[in-house]
Amino acid sequence: MTLPWDFRPIHGERVTLDLLRPDDFEAMYAMQSDADVCRYLLYEPRSREQVAEALKRDAAATRLEEPGDFLQPAIRDADGRFLGTMYLALHSAEPDRTAEIGWILAPGSQGRGYALESARLVLDLAFGEIGLHRVYAELDPRNTASVALCERLGMRHEAHFVEHMWLKGEWSDTGHYAILEREWAPHDAGGLAG
Ligand SMILES: CC(C)(COP(=O)(O)OP(=O)(O)OC[C@H]1O[C@@H](n2cnc3c(N)ncnc32)[C@H](O)[C@@H]1OP(=O)(O)O)[C@@H](O)C(=O)NCCC(=O)NCCS
Repeated sequence: MTLPWDFRPIHGERVTLDLLRPDDFEAMYAMQSDADVCRYLLYEPRSREQVAEALKRDAAATRLEEPGDFLQPAIRDADGRFLGTMYLALHSAEPDRTAEIGWILAPGSQGRGYALESARLVLDLAFGEIGLHRVYAELDPRNTASVALCERLGMRHEAHFVEHMWLKGEWSDTGHYAILEREWAPHDAGGLAG
């Protein structure tokens, strides 16, 4: 396993994953304050102050070294426009080598395969250069777009926790999807660049 792993941009066919920057604020605020975007996220729509704090924290997350470390790069199109964010959090290092993956697209960027392409880039990296064994995603099973994405990626539905947590004034279920290194076929479309 290659730890520490320091972030550098990841280029795909249509998208690039790049660190968040201060000038992403307005686009990130529009996304994270949107009630539809946040419907199945753990947080409520965020205020400008909360987004400013999140942006500062996430832009500074540039290294995976020990459990708890995470990356939250921006997804950008060919013109550098902010489309959303990806997430990769190290859950355990040796010997389990497990991480959690996540994704959020701005409303105007959904339904075009951008999350699929971005998630493939992250999984190529996770199972390739970083050398993880297992990557999982957790979601609200009512989040059909996220469920469909897990299925498109070939992730296995491993668990459905019923009324697993009290969230936003109601009991919520949690779905757990996962994929192993030996099950992941690298995609040619993406590559790492310095
Ligand atoms: C979850 C989320 C990231 C999924 O985004 P998405 O755009 O639906 O996902 P994909 O990138 O896989 O795109 C698939 C859609 O793009 C379409 N598409 C268009 N061009 C495509 C292409 N070149 N390649 C693949 N799909 C393409 C597909 O047909 C599909 O459309 P459909 O949903 O009408 O069937 C998005 O709904 C979102 O951000 N939700 C709010 C935040 C959230 O809940 N995050 C997840 C928390 S667990």
